[in-house]
Amino acid sequence: AVGVSATATAQDYPTRPITMVVPFAAGGPTDTVARLVAQSMSQSLGQQIVVENVGGAGGTLGAARVAKADPDGYTLLLHHIGQATSATLYRKLPYDPANDFAPVGLVTDVPMTIVAKKDFPAKDLKELVEYVKKNADKVTLANAGVGAASHLCGMLFMQAIGTQLTTVPYKGTGPAMNDLVGGQVDLMCDQTTNTTGQIKGGAIKAYAVTTPTKVPSLPDLPTTKDAGLPAVQVAVWHGLYAPKGTPAPVVDKLSKALQTALKDETVKARFGELGTEPVAQERATPKVLGDFVKAEIDRWKPVITAAGVYAD
Ligand code: MLT
Repeated sequence: AVGVSATATAQDYPTRPITMVVPFAAGGPTDTVARLVAQSMSQSLGQQIVVENVGGAGGTLGAARVAKADPDGYTLLLHHIGQATSATLYRKLPYDPANDFAPVGLVTDVPMTIVAKKDFPAKDLKELVEYVKKNADKVTLANAGVGAASHLCGMLFMQAIGTQLTTVPYKGTGPAMNDLVGGQVDLMCDQTTNTTGQIKGGAIKAYAVTTPTKVPSLPDLPTTKDAGLPAVQVAVWHGLYAPKGTPAPVVDKLSKALQTALKDETVKARFGELGTEPVAQERATPKVLGDFVKAEIDRWKPVITAAGVYAD
């Protein structure tokens, strides 16, 4: 109706389906987290949440799409640590990760695993590093583009072993996993939300987890620290965002629905099977996520600058 006040609209929100943009291809770890959260949030919001995969440029195409969307609460972004690393990696980013979004809340921190095609000739991480250093010109490393978590972990890995490998970018580590299982690519560093099933099914080989402690659902995997690569440590945090300017009552409703989803037994059980868990309730808030993005931009800036990695 013409002239309906913004507050009234915000109070009625949501009155139609919501789009949740995942800035990577379907079937990957970001998509997995998004669909679990969206399914639960749609129940408490009473409107369908449609996940839309907008891949490319390490997640920055999808993030740009949401940064420019109407700030009405009907277009959301579920993104991960790439929201912070892209601020340094991309020299001409068409949006400001720290200021062009209305943060809703943190979602989950996901461990990463160093994995290889199942016939890769190394029985442990030490042997893998030796083989990779000797065969650097032949070994290929998959990732989801500059800005992806798999790219960041791959960068830490190559820095730690002092060896540059041929990297193969995909629109997400869902498609990358297909090639790893098929043996078309050799290595990848990817999140347990994507690798757990393939590891347990014997379709790929796993060498280590990138977290300070072992992952209960993958008890045989040593930490990179214990396996000799202490510098390769990264956990992939995920956040939910709306465009800057989304009315506060709408953001508040979304944050409450996110917190409810993170207490949902189905979400918690599935996250547990995939090696992760929901963040504590007090972290699923606009202020915590907003502050955290800024802190993570500052944290990764020197690491990325030292690695001399960037994209135009
Ligand atoms: C990443 O590497 O950033 C993610 O694994 C990409 C994805 O979710 O497909």
